[in-house]
Amino acid sequence: MSSVRKVRKAVFPVAGLGTRFLPATKAVPKEMLTVVDKPVIQYVVDEALDAGIEHLIFVTGRSKAVIEDYFDIQVELEQTLRQRNKTAELSLLESILPVAGSTSFTRQQEPLGLGHAVWCARELVGDEPFALLLPDMIMKSDKGCMKGMVELHSESGANIIAVEECAPDQAHKYGIVGVGEAIGEGFRITRMVEKPAPGTAPSNFFINGRYILQPEIFPILATQERGAGNEIQLTDAMVKLSGTQPFAAYHFRGETYDCGAKDGFILANVAFALERADIRPVVEEPLRKIVSRFK
Ligand code: UTP
Repeated sequence: MSSVRKVRKAVFPVAGLGTRFLPATKAVPKEMLTVVDKPVIQYVVDEALDAGIEHLIFVTGRSKAVIEDYFDIQVELEQTLRQRNKTAELSLLESILPVAGSTSFTRQQEPLGLGHAVWCARELVGDEPFALLLPDMIMKSDKGCMKGMVELHSESGANIIAVEECAPDQAHKYGIVGVGEAIGEGFRITRMVEKPAPGTAPSNFFINGRYILQPEIFPILATQERGAGNEIQLTDAMVKLSGTQPFAAYHFRGETYDCGAKDGFILANVAFALERADIRPVVEEPLRKIVSRFK
């Protein structure tokens, strides 16, 4: 569909408190915790860039200045590396530096919820569809999750939400979608329910933290009242938007690691370390030994 506008911008809400990861997150944002040797946020930014995103918008909060520094040049460090002929390290730093002018930062002064954090990006996004990536969720797959979503968006022009299947008895923990007709690598969404009461979920497809939304979400968020947890909930606003615009689900078939939780973070470290040719040979056997001690 040639009239579908390209998704050029991505929003990363990094203003949450990270209470599940205290005390580490007392001074370090959870997005800067490292999985192997890269901060969590780098994996998520790479997924967005791989999907063709051109502009990265970070909604930051208190003590998040370190994220802004991470995406900037560190002049002294680079000078020292140059003096010491550390060319491999220098080119690594160059390879992760975003193109000049392709990042924007705005503040969410109070952590009033994900919906409110997204609303804080409204001026930077403007009047065009945008990607939204929860920066504590790392996806692992052959084709990037956001890449698949951008394809489904260009085919359908709909709002897109990535979903995965969970065990039916776990559905009450998540945002769950109702399943309509098949479309591309996904299906039309018939309804959305946040944390349905046990036994009432319309399916076992849960919302996993990746979205492509139309700008019409912003005026809805502007007047959205506080919902669950006394926070301004994105799902509540999406339910309203679904009254006037189509929503489609992209069925993501990879692995997701919730790095905002201790178990997901540890599993991400193990999974990504074992994929690395330089690390697997030195950790695989010791890891097996550690695990065997607990049998
Ligand atoms: P979470 O539900 O993980 O909340 O937010 P949290 O505060 O970050 O972490 P916990 O639950 O206290 O451990 C989901 C995403 O929304 C962002 C978070 O940074 C995270 O990426 N968020 C949440 C905001 O940016 N602002 C908010 O007010 C709430």
